[in-house]
Amino acid sequence: MQIQQNVSLRPFNTFGIDVPAEYFTSITDIASLQELMDDAKLPSVRHILGGGSNVLLTKRVNGIVLQNRLKGITVIKEDDAHVWLTVGSGEVWHQLVMFAINSGWAGIENLALIPGTVGAAPIQNIGAYGVEAKETIGTVTAWHWQEKALVTYNNSQCSFGYRDSIFKHALKDQVFITSVTFRLNKQPVYKISYGAITEELERMHIGTMSIRAIANAVIAIRTSKLPDPAQIGNAGSFFKNPTIAKEHYDTLLIDHPGMPSYPAGNSTVKVPAGWLIEQCGWKGYRNGDAGVHSRQALVLVNYSNASGDQIWRLSQQIVDSVKDKYSIELEREVQVW
Ligand code: EPU
Repeated sequence: MQIQQNVSLRPFNTFGIDVPAEYFTSITDIASLQELMDDAKLPSVRHILGGGSNVLLTKRVNGIVLQNRLKGITVIKEDDAHVWLTVGSGEVWHQLVMFAINSGWAGIENLALIPGTVGAAPIQNIGAYGVEAKETIGTVTAWHWQEKALVTYNNSQCSFGYRDSIFKHALKDQVFITSVTFRLNKQPVYKISYGAITEELERMHIGTMSIRAIANAVIAIRTSKLPDPAQIGNAGSFFKNPTIAKEHYDTLLIDHPGMPSYPAGNSTVKVPAGWLIEQCGWKGYRNGDAGVHSRQALVLVNYSNASGDQIWRLSQQIVDSVKDKYSIELEREVQVW
């Protein structure tokens, strides 16, 4: 295992923020995790970096940054209806989606082109176009730092919620996810009711529905709306879509007719944060190199040399203005380091 010191993290985060890490190493096997703990010279403060696509770096990172490079996709079981795959947490998510599509296995095609690694999928419970990762995740295996052992969590132990799981709460900083087991369908159930997908599939004049057609539609929508981090630094949706009481929503509708919402159960509704931010006039805003994307207001961007702090301050201005106008408190989806 090669440990480096004072390493720029710029190539390792999709926002393209340039801060140094005190220590840095790549994790390519599970034995290295034990080795790290045995090395008394290394700091015990550890930060895990997957694809670096959901993190905003605001300052020098003290401790050791672990870049996840655990690879491998293995079929562990199959029957007539399903196939179970165990996937190394350092695999690139989109490559797993394409592997599943090429094998004819359904369940994650709506999640095509989501940036990041397989290990981040359960942490965030990544979701898009009517599907969430939790629907196909069977188990998550992780190295538990305190127990010095691998522990496997089943789906219900992961406490999945909207962009949420136990890995953001009770198990935060406690584990390093090493692999995820997915259960995919041999007989696909197509999920195409999300508005943007329906429209795109119509536009594409699909003759016979297939998981590949769905993935192609998702890829077309994402590439048209979301900036490519290779061109403009960003971390996808910066905020979560807030859930508010139906009563609050009904009151807001009086002054803001046309405010979109989706039912979220228990007399609550979810409001698209992108709409709120756009209504507050931020869409396309730019201050120096920090800005709000011109085609999707939920995405903050680094045009070139913005600091993490500049992006953070812009996000705080957005939070304040949405709160002033709608009395809704936006919550950041990205992890702030
Ligand atoms: N909208 C606006 N202005 C904007 C953006 C959105 O008015 O600038 C409104 C529109 O009314 C639109 C609605 O918001 O109909 C929903 O927009 P969109 O379909 O683009 O989805 P989103 O709610 O903005 C969520 C996820 C995305 C995911 C898409 C598609 C969150 C925080 N974001 O965005 O996930 O790709 O749905 O399912 O839930 C991510 O998490 O990084 C991410 C990109």
